[in-house]
Amino acid sequence: MRIAVIGSGYVGLVAAACFAELGHEVISIDNDVSKIDMLRRGEVPIHEEFLPELLARHRGHRLKFSSDLQEAVRQSTAIFIAVGTPSTEHGDADLSYVEQVSREVASAIDGYKIVVEKSTVPVFTSDWIRRVMLLDGADADNFDVASNPEFLREGTAVGDFLYPDRVVVGADTERCATLLRQIYEPLTSGEYYKQQSIIPNTTKANIPPKIIVTSTKSAELIKHASNAFLATKISFINAVANICEAVGADIKEVCDGIGADSRIGRRFLNPGIGYGGSCFPKDLKAFSSVARETGYDFRLLQEVMNINAEQRSRFLRKVRSALWTLKGKKLAVLGLAFKGGTDDIRESPAIEIIKSLRKEGCEIRAFDPAACERAREVLRDEGICYRQSAYEAAHNADALLILTDWPEFAQLDLPRLKSVMTYPIVIDGRNLYDPRIMAGQGFIYSSVGRADVHTPISRPNGKGEKTATASPGKSQ
Ligand code: UDX
Repeated sequence: MRIAVIGSGYVGLVAAACFAELGHEVISIDNDVSKIDMLRRGEVPIHEEFLPELLARHRGHRLKFSSDLQEAVRQSTAIFIAVGTPSTEHGDADLSYVEQVSREVASAIDGYKIVVEKSTVPVFTSDWIRRVMLLDGADADNFDVASNPEFLREGTAVGDFLYPDRVVVGADTERCATLLRQIYEPLTSGEYYKQQSIIPNTTKANIPPKIIVTSTKSAELIKHASNAFLATKISFINAVANICEAVGADIKEVCDGIGADSRIGRRFLNPGIGYGGSCFPKDLKAFSSVARETGYDFRLLQEVMNINAEQRSRFLRKVRSALWTLKGKKLAVLGLAFKGGTDDIRESPAIEIIKSLRKEGCEIRAFDPAACERAREVLRDEGICYRQSAYEAAHNADALLILTDWPEFAQLDLPRLKSVMTYPIVIDGRNLYDPRIMAGQGFIYSSVGRADVHTPISRPNGKGEKTATASPGKSQ
């Protein structure tokens, strides 16, 4: 099938590369000419596992890059819209890019095509796209509008696309549904998984996904409701973690216990400093706003957002209680991205926490395996230094903060870490370590939903032992 994907951000670029991998002829469109030039030159603008391999494999063959939207539309049967839908100041989704693209698509339509929303959009967006396309002169018989939400997580987006739990297709005519079924057939029939040199699946068996065909409105709601449910799961477990801290229970044991119920499941039950990223915060606000417009006050979602914001404040309180005063303290920060495996810092809890710590006068030495450049551009603060490794960041630090769950942060050489720090204080916002191991290694360790470890520590100058329940700050 000939496919145009409009927008070459995270979702659009991954979708375009993966459609090419499934055997389709794809044109990836963006109005940012420099980005298109970059992609044509073979550069990869985002950090995403397996994306460089896919782009190298299909670039110039089944995958082309262009800024000419109208020509791409004329050449294609399926047009996927994957442009940004940022939050407005009122919290609802800004659909102006979707509208603009729909109008341009309308003016280029010259035969039957399907226009498919891939961006996360509120219910009724497909109706609006249809309406503006008709107003802009597209013939009603020449197109259908469909919704095909993506469930891609950044960092594992290629794997999520090629090995999905399900493919959701919202189409209001059989003709449109048939085309979408054909696009995903290599996955749903299992043919893709039988081929040589496919992108490997590291997490799941190669079971063909089921395709769920619904109305467009249902598909639009499936997307928002899925993200809202996952965010609710995270806020729920963060709230339970807070109770664990109050009563001396262990959140990991609690999560394992409740997650073993197959009706609940263990995934997305990891407590921490709250969810971030380009999707959950935006989608929660947008879904809440959609509900309000329909006359329903979805109060649960507001509480999910409140708990999420509170997790960051609670973490800052932990830092204060571990260090007493913050002014002038040298803090090592591991992690800037909103989660491990990505260079994306949009709505990253780590960035918000760093900003707060800087306001309180801390000096920050940060390390992230992928996100330092982006953080530097956004933070523009001379009080933040970027280091090349976790140990460099920890050098002479009064405490180390873990803010992103990169796998390498869970495998630090603890004796080495302790030897470079001024004080062996670790405040872990992602629960990457076992408190007993940290205690055994002589750290003062604080995490989320588990008892703090106040281990006896040797003073660096060797003048005897001191129980580290009081502030060990040198600056007293
Ligand atoms: C999410 C959805 O998972 C995906 O289906 C959708 O298409 C886009 O939004 P993404 O934003 O890439 O994907 O990241 P995800 O892995 O879902 O994590 C979102 C945030 O939740 C991160 O900040 C992460 O650290 C946090 N999180 C996730 C937790 O705090 N605890 C968990 O158990 C899981």
